[in-house]
Amino acid sequence: MTAREAIAGAERRLASAGVDSPRVDAELLVAHVLGLSRTRLYADLDREVDGLEPLLARRERREPLAYVLGEWGFRRLTLKTDARALVPRPETEVVVERALALLDGTTSPRVLDVGVGSGAIALALKDERPDARVTGVDESDEALALARENADRLGLDVELRHGGLETAGSGWDLVVSNPPYVDTLEGLQPELRYEPEVALVGTGLHERLAEGARTRALVLEVGEGQAGGVARSLAELGYRDVRVTPDLAGIDRVVEGVR
Ligand SMILES: C[S@@+](CC[C@H](N)C(=O)[O-])C[C@H]1O[C@@H](n2cnc3c(N)ncnc32)[C@H](O)[C@@H]1O
Repeated sequence: MTAREAIAGAERRLASAGVDSPRVDAELLVAHVLGLSRTRLYADLDREVDGLEPLLARRERREPLAYVLGEWGFRRLTLKTDARALVPRPETEVVVERALALLDGTTSPRVLDVGVGSGAIALALKDERPDARVTGVDESDEALALARENADRLGLDVELRHGGLETAGSGWDLVVSNPPYVDTLEGLQPELRYEPEVALVGTGLHERLAEGARTRALVLEVGEGQAGGVARSLAELGYRDVRVTPDLAGIDRVVEGVR
């Protein structure tokens, strides 16, 4: 089967399975099997494709594309991705953007990422602010193992250790977090069933973290509809310059404040 035929067939199957972006996913899967970028694939549509079926079947069962491909782009990095940690999301790139803005003017800042997962935020911050002393904590040892593999692969020197919200209380220039903030997985897209529940389901973590944190600046990712409440909590806790930033879809996604 040629790449052209493989893409068309995969697109049909993924569309029937209810995948949101069947064409893009089909192209990325075929490109992956051929070891090409998606752009290069278009110069090579007559190439023979082998070994697509097992990957396509996994995506058809609605396993996240990032797990099927085994890697995923985040900011300037390509991270290893598997079921040990949440798939890094494009909206989380806005968290990194705001964190970098708040670090402007501070040299060798001490930065903590609470709930480091795959390492996405912590590693992107170290990559883009090499002078930062970055620590990432997580209560999941599996996520920490993946974050360590990513740090090693990328050659980024960050401290990774087991820890929870209390870690934020020891004095930082910046605390950043994308904590679990979904009430329930019921009714949400099936892909989420493959991700660790501890990474997704949680309530009140923003407020608890904001209350206990001893930090000059705090940057939090929030769920849709949560920004107003979290911003109010930050103001009540004495944070100044509280600001909400939308993601690329226009959803209020990041809340920050300084003390
Ligand atoms: C939404 S994921 C974020 C992962 C990564 N920072 C990202 O943005 O892709 C939340 C992470 O927080 C961790 N976590 C959940 N509750 C926690 C807690 N109380 N203390 C520390 N980590 C926690 C989970 O294991 C998970 O890795």
